[in-house]
Amino acid sequence: MIEKINIGIAGSCGRGRSFKTACDASGILKIHAVCDVNEEKLEESRVALGAEEKYLDYYEMIEKSDIQAVIIGTPMPFHASQAIAALNKNIHVLSEVPAAVSIEECKELVLAARRSKALYMMAENYTYIKSNVMVKEMVKRGMFGELYYAEGEYIHELKQLNEITKWRRKWQTGINGITYGTHSLGPVLQWMHPDRVISVCCAGSGHHYKDSEGRYYENEDTCVMLCKMASGALVKIRVDMLSDRPHAMTNYQLQGTDGCYESARAHGERHRIWIRSLCPEMKWMYLDELGEQFLPQEWKKHQEIAMKTGHGGGDFFEIMDFCDAITGKKKCPIGIDEAMDMTLPGLVSQQSIVQNGKWLDVPDSRQWN
Ligand SMILES: NC(=O)c1ccc[n+]([C@@H]2O[C@H](COP(=O)([O-])OP(=O)(O)OC[C@H]3O[C@@H](n4cnc5c(N)ncnc54)[C@H](O)[C@@H]3O)[C@@H](O)[C@H]2O)c1
Repeated sequence: MIEKINIGIAGSCGRGRSFKTACDASGILKIHAVCDVNEEKLEESRVALGAEEKYLDYYEMIEKSDIQAVIIGTPMPFHASQAIAALNKNIHVLSEVPAAVSIEECKELVLAARRSKALYMMAENYTYIKSNVMVKEMVKRGMFGELYYAEGEYIHELKQLNEITKWRRKWQTGINGITYGTHSLGPVLQWMHPDRVISVCCAGSGHHYKDSEGRYYENEDTCVMLCKMASGALVKIRVDMLSDRPHAMTNYQLQGTDGCYESARAHGERHRIWIRSLCPEMKWMYLDELGEQFLPQEWKKHQEIAMKTGHGGGDFFEIMDFCDAITGKKKCPIGIDEAMDMTLPGLVSQQSIVQNGKWLDVPDSRQWN
């Protein structure tokens, strides 16, 4: 039985830092090494995360440190290459989203994951948000009937953050199309499992904002990707990181033949649901009125501690699943092919938008061997 897994955290001065509470709560992950290119803050992050070792160079960490797993919390363009390097050394990987920034990178990552004895998991924490988990459970019990439409939106004004974390200016708002779509598509794909996106088209709303140098962003303010699912169902994904508006970040919707769901738009609002078997009249109910009857046992058990970690408990449950997958207790819910199902449509949307919204096929990573 595995009792302890030494882990290295890359990007420990940024997002990587936020995994400490969840790692500690896991009872099995021991943060052994940290890595960040920020020399000034590296020692501070080592102390904060309670690590024994620190590295300025990621490749040196995976070469020298006694670690069996890494969490990759570095900027988007590093995810795939750093994951591949770890997998090549049979080090388990929990990678931040998206899995990669090009289709070529996706292919290389898939092949590395297939070759490796280690596990690859993508850290799509929005799939673990309580309301999304409850809807998933109700879908699993057949309460929505046949699913045929869903929406996911990520509307997060990040213009200021673009100036501070410069990589965002290039990789999130410097490319047109869906650059950061997994938070929206991820939960929808889990609801619709085992369905997958087979083709996408993408269009934008034009350019209305300029960066600090007076240049329009290459990314159109709002980009919408339509996804055709293998089943024939339709999914709409909207990502907007530029528009001025009060904060109301995520939106999820689901429509089936026997039920529908509309998440709350903003803080203080409530998630609405209608399920034929619970309410034969055509009247909305609120998700919170259903109590915890559709919350999985694991969620109930760890709710208190989970809520102390980030993203409404999501950061805790993804770490738990990562540990359970490494130790063989559970199948990895967002392994390499699920990570590709969530990542590839956005990358293809970037090709669609430059071809005037042409419908393009999305490759199936299961064919890449
Ligand atoms: N899942 C979520 O909810 C969530 C939330 C925030 C960020 N993210 C993702 O996490 C990643 C990091 O985002 P962030 O907001 O922390 O960015 P950030 O720029 O604030 O932090 C990234 C950190 O990585 C370090 N870094 C850069 N290049 C590196 C390299 N080659 N090797 C090691 N360290 C390196 C930087 O010095 C910085 O400390 C992004 O991919 C982002 O999309 C996900």
